[in-house]
Amino acid sequence: MAEKITISVIKADVGGYVGHSAVHPRLLEKAGEELAKAKADGILVDYHVGYVGDDVDLIMTHRRGVDDKDVHQLSWRTFEACTEVARELKLYGAGQDLLADSFSGNVKGMGPGVAEMEVVERTSEPVIVYMADKTEPGAWNYPLYRMFADPFNTAGLVIDPKMHAGFNFEVHDLIHHRRVTFSCPEELYDLLIFIGAPGRFCIKSVYSKELNDIAAASSTQKLNFMAGRYVGKDDPVMIVRCQSGFPAVGEALEPFAMPHLVSGWMRGSHSGPLMPVAQGDATPSRFDGPPRVVALGFQLANGRLIGPRDFFADVAFDGARRQAIELADYLRRLGPFEPHRLHLDEMEYTTLPDVMKKLQGRFQPVEEDAVEEELEKRQGLG
Ligand code: F6R
Ligand code: MG
Ligand code: MG
Repeated sequence: MAEKITISVIKADVGGYVGHSAVHPRLLEKAGEELAKAKADGILVDYHVGYVGDDVDLIMTHRRGVDDKDVHQLSWRTFEACTEVARELKLYGAGQDLLADSFSGNVKGMGPGVAEMEVVERTSEPVIVYMADKTEPGAWNYPLYRMFADPFNTAGLVIDPKMHAGFNFEVHDLIHHRRVTFSCPEELYDLLIFIGAPGRFCIKSVYSKELNDIAAASSTQKLNFMAGRYVGKDDPVMIVRCQSGFPAVGEALEPFAMPHLVSGWMRGSHSGPLMPVAQGDATPSRFDGPPRVVALGFQLANGRLIGPRDFFADVAFDGARRQAIELADYLRRLGPFEPHRLHLDEMEYTTLPDVMKKLQGRFQPVEEDAVEEELEKRQGLG
């Protein structure tokens, strides 16, 4: 029987350098030390410490399956150790994503973001780990759709017999905590009505119908829903398997040639282009952004992570970066107006209740109408 291997990508912001713009090298060093010990102790097969903006991304392989207590505890301990360093250096927001006082079995619901998948390693197993900052889990909806459902992006959907049957998409409703699976291409239009609203519906995982196997997994933690107050945006991670019945590496990178608009820029309350960048450029600055995405490629070799290849370092993504900057120029000129600033119900924090309170008594009724009812009806909620 072929051996199973688990890839776990667990991330947290435990302190920014400077502000929310980057991770201090000493935090990366500390994370590396902790994971090296875990590798020596046999908990991990291998690891790589990545980063994007103010987030530390622990990329780990092991043989313990998803949701493993030891691996989650190790991640929690690593983030705690990094927090200590962050406190010593007085980095910004030290420990910000560690919402609980102590570990209780699984880091899900405790602040960190988690994407995991267990696979039987193929003869050759190319995977890409994507990490984004200043955005939210729904940011993966557009690229996942392009990779696994759009023949204009992925030629293999048309001409690779192993892809032609299509893929199943598991979508999570982050508000009502429920999930639904769509079989594509047959249910493309049903899928799109949901994932076109990435603030609420997120693609959690994708499965190949032909191979009956997992193809992609993403993190769907929404910190602000968990904490009930502003604690930063839920900068997401994602794992995609490539080649031989999954998208070719180039098909899995192609959606990012178009810097689509995502939520999460400045104060988690603005929309901006997701700019693909090299690891070394994963340091948002302008207006705390624009939002960024890094793609690290690995070949698995009995769980060893051979790599990374820093895919967006390629000059072929210069055009996407240029376009992202142009879009940023345009959106910034809108200042506090929608759609640059997010809609009222999507902002991470707002002064609206305070302003409303101050103006209490100054609002005069205009005329009775059924606006609210009409709005609900239009949204299909009435
Ligand atoms: C967005 C982000 C930053 C902060 C902003 C204000 O996800 O991390 O844009 O929201 O720098 O930060 P605070 O409220 O900590 O001063
Ligand atoms: Mg931060
Ligand atoms: Mg961040």
